[in-house]
Amino acid sequence: MSMPLLFSPISLRDVHLRNRIVISPMCQYSARDGMPDDWHFAHLSNFALGGAGLVFTEASAVVPEGRITHGDTGIWNGEQAESWARIVAFLQSQGAKAGMQLAHAGRKASMQRPWHGNGAPDETDFARGELPWRIVSASAEPTADGWLMPDALEADEIAHLTQAFADAAARCDEAGFDVVEVHGAHGYLLHQFLSPLSNHRTDEYGGSFDKRIRFAIETARAVRAAWPSHKPLFFRTSSVDGIEGGWEIEHTVELAKRLKAEGVDVIDCSSGGHSPKGATNANLARGLGFQVAFADQVRRGADIMTQAVGLILDGPQAEEILQSGSADLIAIGREALQNPFWPHHQRQAMGVDEAYDDWPVQYQWWLQRRARGLKKMGL
Ligand SMILES: Cc1cc2nc3c(=O)[nH]c(=O)nc-3n(C[C@H](O)[C@H](O)[C@H](O)COP(=O)(O)O)c2cc1C
Repeated sequence: MSMPLLFSPISLRDVHLRNRIVISPMCQYSARDGMPDDWHFAHLSNFALGGAGLVFTEASAVVPEGRITHGDTGIWNGEQAESWARIVAFLQSQGAKAGMQLAHAGRKASMQRPWHGNGAPDETDFARGELPWRIVSASAEPTADGWLMPDALEADEIAHLTQAFADAAARCDEAGFDVVEVHGAHGYLLHQFLSPLSNHRTDEYGGSFDKRIRFAIETARAVRAAWPSHKPLFFRTSSVDGIEGGWEIEHTVELAKRLKAEGVDVIDCSSGGHSPKGATNANLARGLGFQVAFADQVRRGADIMTQAVGLILDGPQAEEILQSGSADLIAIGREALQNPFWPHHQRQAMGVDEAYDDWPVQYQWWLQRRARGLKKMGL
């Protein structure tokens, strides 16, 4: 049997992934002052033990005001970079590569953690000492009625934030990360500039398509310049807004072409994030692999590698996506929360590793003996 593509190594610039399974960025809302701690170590380490090729951190803010909640991680100072370095080293020691997602939430900053309401901050948050801060966006328009009002960024503030993304990328290199992804999706700051639904500026950062993509392009350019040329750069897009008059897949394909010219290697094809209902991304009909078609269109239309994500539930489904040429990488999010050992289990289910050969050696000997024992018992 030939090795499924899903479990075949892939090289991105000089970074070699052991397989094509990526753990998608997943906020934990559990940091203090942006510092990753033991929770983040344990949470992310599981995925490396579980056999993923690349493990992304959650969206980590490039400036404190860019956090979605008080609990977001950051990479705006050296102390945070040092704390990330410990996590990165462990992921790498287990054969995984480590990716950082660089983020700024824009007008979706200073909101509640999901389990505190997932909305605009209120008295319950203030009672915990979690006060709101000044938020910014492309235009002075809130996410939804009742949400905090952002200030429209001045041109010099945009330049400052572009530099903050670049500085954060340099810290990622110091921390030993293998991959950096710029978060341009889910209704956060860069997406707020891209989408005509949230960008009503009349200066050089708003209006036409070229002007609306300018901040994203300048950010990618600055990050690429600060990030070593032998390491790959990803960009996450909301491929469509899913709202009439919003950002469409043709725009993503064109943006991907421009990003490729700036040295972006992979487009991570997500969707949504602008919703009149607030923070969630429920504008598209959900179904198995509901965003794969976007990865496919971007890959073919812009001739760039893509990462497919969203309700990819098992190995055969993932393999079909890769075999059909729709994507180069498969990202899983909630499947990994459900089963951090998803990659190892899919290898077994697909008959690639029947003997626990790829499991951590600390588990392998016991599980092999257990398997033999169960077989003898006819179980
Ligand atoms: C707990 C949780 C946190 C998330 N945080 C982020 C994030 O920090 N950055 C991001 O781009 N997407 C985030 N997402 C979206 C996931 O990366 C992924 O795109 C989404 O869950 C769809 O994939 P799935 O169906 O495999 O879960 C998050 C999803 C979950 C479940």
